[in-house]
Amino acid sequence: MPVITCVEDLRVLAKRRVPRMFYDYADSGAWTESTYRANEADFKTILLRQRVAVNVEDRSTAVLMLGQPARMPVAIAPIGLAGMQHADGEIHAARAAEKFGIPFSLSTMSICSIEDIAENTSAPFWFQLYMMRDRAAMVRMIERCKAANCAALVLTLDLQVPGQRHKDLKNGLTVPPRPTVANLVNLATKLRWCAGMAATRRRSFGNLVGHVDAVSNMRSLSAWSSEQFDPRLSWNDVDWVRRQWGGKLILKGITDVEDAKLAVRHGADAVVVSNHGGRVLDGAPSSIRALPAIAEAVGSTTEVWMDGGIRTGQDVLKAWALGARGTMIGRAMIYGLGAMGEAGVSKALQMLHKELDVTMAVCGHTRITDVDRAILVPGTY
Ligand code: GLV
Repeated sequence: MPVITCVEDLRVLAKRRVPRMFYDYADSGAWTESTYRANEADFKTILLRQRVAVNVEDRSTAVLMLGQPARMPVAIAPIGLAGMQHADGEIHAARAAEKFGIPFSLSTMSICSIEDIAENTSAPFWFQLYMMRDRAAMVRMIERCKAANCAALVLTLDLQVPGQRHKDLKNGLTVPPRPTVANLVNLATKLRWCAGMAATRRRSFGNLVGHVDAVSNMRSLSAWSSEQFDPRLSWNDVDWVRRQWGGKLILKGITDVEDAKLAVRHGADAVVVSNHGGRVLDGAPSSIRALPAIAEAVGSTTEVWMDGGIRTGQDVLKAWALGARGTMIGRAMIYGLGAMGEAGVSKALQMLHKELDVTMAVCGHTRITDVDRAILVPGTY
């Protein structure tokens, strides 16, 4: 067992342990993957100012995200197919988040269901929704979220027309994997994964199969989702979701200042500056580049969060300094999950927290809530 000291170590281990089609599904972006790469690379060009001879003995990275306490400004992003990275993956991730003390969000396209998470955790969690043509199915899902006491709904706005991921097409991504020769050969090298999957009943899209008309098995699901994501999505639909839900609403997938202002006008309690992990529009700015203008435009009235490219605590600190009052992690969590299940997600959270805490101290701060742009080297952001 290798010594794990950073998220990159978890990625390497996940790549060894997770079947190729599911590992590739996570570690990929749209088309040429230039936006996917920029999300990470652009963090590295922003530089931190070290300060010395400051008392940094008692420190706190604790914040509130939508009024919910978070031990650091990080929440688990909604990630499709997390339960294919590791058996019962979403339950593992939600438990790790609860034990560590950060919010967890569940994807519509998860393997474990809303009810699975409610039964296996006690902290309030958030549920992510897409605008679907089948409005009755959406209403039923929103009712299930209410019954499960979800604390907020995350409406994803940027995937109504999905980008193409070459790897998914080349791997023939299906849930569960199709028993082709290539898949069987690859699965034969992932015995730990296979044993986990053999021991669980959760091997399909738990929020949809059996709950949504016309989704009785995976063949019909892929047809259903490509027909269902509604390309006519408008701000009126956002209003409709807000009315149906009646609770806190997080609008995710905003990269443009005008859209951020519209999101606020349409009642967003938080907006997530996100390019969907570089998985939709290739050739778009990284999330960290899009963040400052949006934080300036709407940050005083609405919580502005960001996701995309966060692999270290230093990244979390830079995002905070540029106006993000929270971040969401997808791949940093999913690599931990694929590597070691709940223990891997816990490890990822502990490492991010340590990096954040130590970096903040070396920059001369004891409270993340006191950190602002002054912590960054001028001209590097
Ligand atoms: C779904 O959200 C995806 O990015 O595949």
